Amino acid sequence: MVSLRFLISVFSSLPATIAAACADQFDPSCYASADVLTRNVAVIGGGSSGTYAAVKLRDAGRSVVVIEKQDKLGGKTETYTVPGTGTTIDYGVQVFWNTSVVTDFFSRLNVPIAPFQPSGGATTTVYVDLKSGQFLSNFTPPSSDLSAYRQQLDKYPYLSWGYDIPTPVPEDLSLPFGRFITKYGLQDVAFTIFHHSATGGLGNILQRSTVSVLKALSEPVFQESQGKIVVTAAHNNHQLYDKALEALGRDVLLNSTVVAASRPANSSASTGVRLVVKTPTGNKLVIASQILFTAPQTIDNLSPFDLDRTERLVFSQFNATGFYAGLLNNTGLPTGHSFINAGLSTQYHIPSTPGLYHIQPTAVQGIWSFWYTSDSVLPEATVKREVLAAVNVLTNSSSSSGVEILAFANHSPYLLYPPAEQISQGFYSNLESLQGYRNTWYTGGLFEPAAGPLWVFTQALIEKIAATVQ
Ligand SMILES: Cc1cc2nc3c(=O)[nH]c(=O)nc-3n(C[C@H](O)[C@H](O)[C@H](O)COP(=O)(O)OP(=O)(O)OC[C@H]3O[C@@H](n4cnc5c(N)ncnc54)[C@H](O)[C@@H]3O)c2cc1C
Ligand SMILES: *[C@@H]1O[C@H](CO)[C@@H](O)[C@H](O)[C@H]1NC(C)=O
Ligand SMILES: *[C@@H]1O[C@H](CO)[C@@H](O)[C@H](O)[C@H]1NC(C)=O
Ligand SMILES: *[C@@H]1O[C@H](CO)[C@@H](O)[C@H](O)[C@H]1NC(C)=O
Ligand SMILES: *[C@@H]1O[C@H](CO)[C@@H](O)[C@H](O)[C@H]1NC(C)=O
Ligand SMILES: *[C@@H]1O[C@H](CO)[C@@H](O)[C@H](O)[C@H]1NC(C)=O
Ligand SMILES: *[C@@H]1O[C@H](CO)[C@@H](O)[C@H](O)[C@H]1NC(C)=O
Repeated sequence: MVSLRFLISVFSSLPATIAAACADQFDPSCYASADVLTRNVAVIGGGSSGTYAAVKLRDAGRSVVVIEKQDKLGGKTETYTVPGTGTTIDYGVQVFWNTSVVTDFFSRLNVPIAPFQPSGGATTTVYVDLKSGQFLSNFTPPSSDLSAYRQQLDKYPYLSWGYDIPTPVPEDLSLPFGRFITKYGLQDVAFTIFHHSATGGLGNILQRSTVSVLKALSEPVFQESQGKIVVTAAHNNHQLYDKALEALGRDVLLNSTVVAASRPANSSASTGVRLVVKTPTGNKLVIASQILFTAPQTIDNLSPFDLDRTERLVFSQFNATGFYAGLLNNTGLPTGHSFINAGLSTQYHIPSTPGLYHIQPTAVQGIWSFWYTSDSVLPEATVKREVLAAVNVLTNSSSSSGVEILAFANHSPYLLYPPAEQISQGFYSNLESLQGYRNTWYTGGLFEPAAGPLWVFTQALIEKIAATVQ
């Protein structure tokens, strides 16, 4: 294996002309031929949307390479295997829609699915302030009837798919959701909306812009009613990504990130893109016609991509929330109870953030799951400390020595949100207009909140991409 660094050090002792040629990290002759990968599409990020896109593009006869930072595909899909028993617990992505895009993808990868059954065993729901440990006795959430909310949502049908927001941007979309709640009399369902699984990871919803909440708890989410939801038959959602990794084989670069990029200044240029990819076996050069960027579109993740001013103006606007999930053992909590975080004296009893959503029993006796959110990304150690502190206040113990965090997944940065004034000024149109710009396309959680809609969105996008690389 001949690395670029090795070559540079060898050539540095040779005449300047040769050294100069190979000092260009985008020059294929600076790499061993096995380290130059020429593909139709380079997919950045191998989570839900990147894996879907790669498999489908390949099935459509286009060549791909997936560049994934972690050592596995699947992103937010996290499955824990209980040692000894082999029982699996999905503690990231839980469920999928029973729609043709979903069922076709599962059958393409030979992963059996089954209808979703709520995990058995009656649980008592306890509302408790998980910061202080104070119980909200006699508290029941005011309402779970979201029809008044859906009436408002109906005004924005274009939020069901992507962000085809009209100009001028409707004023309500940039309102803090807390103001939207009072403006439209949704106080009774504020707590329910905060705790809806679809708004998981949004931090304090009262401070988010209305567009972010409407996009998360969207019309497609409501269509996902009981009986239309599926899970993997083995209760191991990660199977989908293990099978995808087998199918994609050497077209996946794990533990890998792009460190430099050369992209044409405009999309009609046919010269394509070049990416220097840092991999566990040294740098590789990817030469591709198009890039499909599926990792969170933060300025940090995009900075190696040689952004121009137009792109930078869009992507530098984002702030991100934090979303963390995990599993606990030896909690000392009474079985058969679900602990739901509720603020004792906060507005609508929505708990303060950063903080937990809940600590709930899983299908495996003794193992509990938790969800935690924050308004900006936090160090993992802080979140773990806060989760253990919450178990302590629930059990009245002074130390959490016995409690064990069996699994912890950091899904941050989660929600990407621009400042409200940017939303009014057409931020999302500017974002949309970047699709295909400089041979680069975008999908992922920024565009659709759940796997079903995300695959539908991604399918439409890859048809456009495939058309450019006939
Ligand atoms: C706890 C939790 C529960 C959820 N439950 C559900 C559910 O039940 N049903 C549902 O439909 N949706 C659920 N979701 C929503 C979920 O986010 C989407 O379904 C979907 O997984 C998002 O896919 P994605 O491709 O955008 O992101 P991801 O699946 O996270 O993929 C992004 C990938 O990019 C990689 N990456 C990041 N940075 C880089 C980089 N710089 N270079 C290369 N690779 C990089 C990441 O490692 C990751 O693999 C849940 C989310 C969370 C966090
Ligand atoms: C990725 O990195 C992890 C941890 O650093 C390592 O255990 C794993 O073998 C690596 N996988 C690949 C494919 O390089
Ligand atoms: C999915 O829905 C179809 C009908 O739309 C049904 O026939 C099928 O059994 C469902 N699949 C699962 C796993 O629930
Ligand atoms: C885009 O690139 C093509 C081919 O390289 C060139 O002919 C065209 O003038 C460029 N357009 C712009 C707007 O720069
Ligand atoms: C949001 O980002 C801006 C800069 O981009 C920063 O000044 C501000 O503090 C961030 N806000 C939050 C809540 O993190
Ligand atoms: C949880 O703790 C119990 C009691 O200490 C132990 O027997 C069990 O193996 C633990 N479970 C896991 C998955 O570690
Ligand atoms: C903890 O103590 C409080 C009173 O100090 C009590 O109301 C509560 O029931 C106790 N919780 C547990 C789990 O023992």
